[in-house]
Amino acid sequence: MNTDKTSAPAMKTALVTGGAGFIGSNFVRFLLAQEPQVSVVNLDALTYAGSLENLRDLPDPSRYEFVHGDICDRDLVLDLLRRRSIDTIVHFAAESHVDRSILEPGRFIQTNVVGTHVLLDAARQFWLVERGVPAEMARFHHISTDEVYGALEPGAPAFDEQTPYAPNSPYSASKAASDHLVRAYGRTYGLAFTLTNCSNNYGPYQFPEKLVPLMLVNARKKLPLPVYGDGGQVRDWLYVEDHCEAILTVLKRGRVGESYVVGGDNQPTNLEIVRTLCAVLDELQPDPTCPKRESMIQFVADRPGHDRRYAMNITKIRTELGWQPSVSLAEGLRRTVQWYLRNESWLAAISARPEYQGWLNRNYRGR
Ligand code: NAD
Ligand code: TYD
Repeated sequence: MNTDKTSAPAMKTALVTGGAGFIGSNFVRFLLAQEPQVSVVNLDALTYAGSLENLRDLPDPSRYEFVHGDICDRDLVLDLLRRRSIDTIVHFAAESHVDRSILEPGRFIQTNVVGTHVLLDAARQFWLVERGVPAEMARFHHISTDEVYGALEPGAPAFDEQTPYAPNSPYSASKAASDHLVRAYGRTYGLAFTLTNCSNNYGPYQFPEKLVPLMLVNARKKLPLPVYGDGGQVRDWLYVEDHCEAILTVLKRGRVGESYVVGGDNQPTNLEIVRTLCAVLDELQPDPTCPKRESMIQFVADRPGHDRRYAMNITKIRTELGWQPSVSLAEGLRRTVQWYLRNESWLAAISARPEYQGWLNRNYRGR
């Protein structure tokens, strides 16, 4: 594999996995809008986290195909690669919630590890054995997380591409395993890959079990706002459109065989995030019965093994590829609150699902 090459694959047909989830659906919309020559095939199993409601009003539906299926189904994946002559795979599909991984780790191993291996193996067969597309066009882009690096001590330098992997949750361990498989397919078979490790995303279409939308759902229903432990955990927050732009930048200009850390360049505590959301809600949708929603914050039992701090050093992607986040945290949170207020029916439909209610009971009752 030529790892020195700065690649510019003339992407034609991209297979996006997990494109009915939060980041994947934002990326499908972004890619169709930004790249008029690209067709998109979206392979998604529509688990609890996926919804076709996230994919309404796509910019050009004639360049889009949805396939309902599982990334663990090798025959289906290989058939898709051949039928659509896929040159680019952008792999989002995963079980993505740390709290769920603590209660049911097995599903994370199946989708995140086995599923990633199935995709890699099918890509190897189609691109490297059958030579299904010109070699210089093929690209496997893997979406991973900062959580593979584990927790930072206060004051320790931010994560960069050299930070050793030290995952602490079943979720992050399964993502770390998938990253290693991607690298191994690059080194062993010459599969052309790029990899991004990004921080916590937020923005439109996020499933309301993650911190930001959960707070907005609970505030809407006048329920307590559950903050784990003392709320002093530090995360880096990346607005989802900035993330989509980073992925497209890496697809176009990233070096094959390289990974890039992607983040929003901020380090607030969870408590600061929740307080900011409350303040924006108080301003945009005042509630005379609860003028200061932060009074609804309730500290609850901490997450087992909770990583205390993440931080991102984005020097590599900034200097090599010229990408940096363009949406500040304050602006991104405001836009997010506005989106959820404007899309009440989306939120109501998703949060009325029995599976969602079941999850809230399992994770929060008696906590
Ligand atoms: P999500 O949970 O919102 O969506 C996951 C999507 O994958 C869903 O549409 C689901 O139906 C689909 N899916 C799950 N199992 C599947 C299977 N076996 N076959 C096909 N489809 C399947 O996730 P997200 O938040 O959009 O995250 C996308 C990717 O980004 C994941 O790989 C995640 O690890 C990574 N990531 C997310 C964040 C974040 O803050 N959300 C941060 C870092 C990395
Ligand atoms: P989350 O959105 O689940 O993402 P991740 O675990 O991938 O970082 O959680 C973000 C942070 O918010 C994390 O430190 C856990 C915390 N959190 C709460 O304090 N309360 C909650 O109800 C949830 C869902 C998360």
